[in-house]
Amino acid sequence: MKKLSKLGLVLVLGLMMLLTACGTSETGSTDSGNSGDSGASDEKKKLRIVTDAAYAPFESLEGDKVVGFDVDFIGAVLEEAGYEVVAPEHVGWDPLFIEIESEEADLAISAITINSDRQQTYDFSVPYFLSTNKILIPKDSDIKSGADLKGKKVAVQNGTTGQATAEAILGTNSTDIKKFENNNLAIQELLAGGADAVIADNTVIEEYAKNNPDQNLVVIADDSFEQEFYGVMFPKGSELKAEFDEAINKVFDSGKYEEIYEEWFGVAPDVENLKAQQ
Ligand code: ARG
Repeated sequence: MKKLSKLGLVLVLGLMMLLTACGTSETGSTDSGNSGDSGASDEKKKLRIVTDAAYAPFESLEGDKVVGFDVDFIGAVLEEAGYEVVAPEHVGWDPLFIEIESEEADLAISAITINSDRQQTYDFSVPYFLSTNKILIPKDSDIKSGADLKGKKVAVQNGTTGQATAEAILGTNSTDIKKFENNNLAIQELLAGGADAVIADNTVIEEYAKNNPDQNLVVIADDSFEQEFYGVMFPKGSELKAEFDEAINKVFDSGKYEEIYEEWFGVAPDVENLKAQQ
């Protein structure tokens, strides 16, 4: 009896191993069908992705190549969702909104903050990055907070939350707010003495100040500036949203997000906090 049950156990275990092996080889063969064989990968759907590549370290131009955290992140998401991995195309900030609204592009990734204004016209993925606006000033500036910007000239990228933050302090139609097509031009204005400060996403201006020590710039925070979350932006009603949300969550859970984040920022991301926003 005892012997028999032992034999039974061996049989059951054997059967289980056999089934597992079948399962594995099945998955294995599907995988190689999708990615191993070049004929099949040619069939992967290709999307048109647009960005404003003047916002390092999220997206910037290296020659004519767009590189940055956003590029690597969307690459991982495209791969996960089964699309051809393509780099975003640099079209500029204002044009990218037009291209998404008119559906000339499938999606935009450009450190774009999800807010209710934009949500009326566009759809956004689940949040993938936490940010806040901060203030870039010369080291010898007397500006210590957002309130100190009153009466000063503030340079911003046109149509950004940095502009909205400046307007909340200086007034919507303030002529002291100088708006530029991209954030690098806003920083140039500060360096040329045409502005006293730049308001933009913390990571961008902190990186800039750190990478250009000879320019003697510092970044200060204002606790009243809100937390913002970036999302991938789609045309309203796009079917891609659901697919990408699922893929983004897989990239969060697989550890790939953390890997990319650490590569670009040198610290670990708070993935749980991002997921808690969904
Ligand atoms: N996060 C800000 C916003 O959404 C600024 C983004 C600017 N991005 C860029 N690639 N220039 O308004």
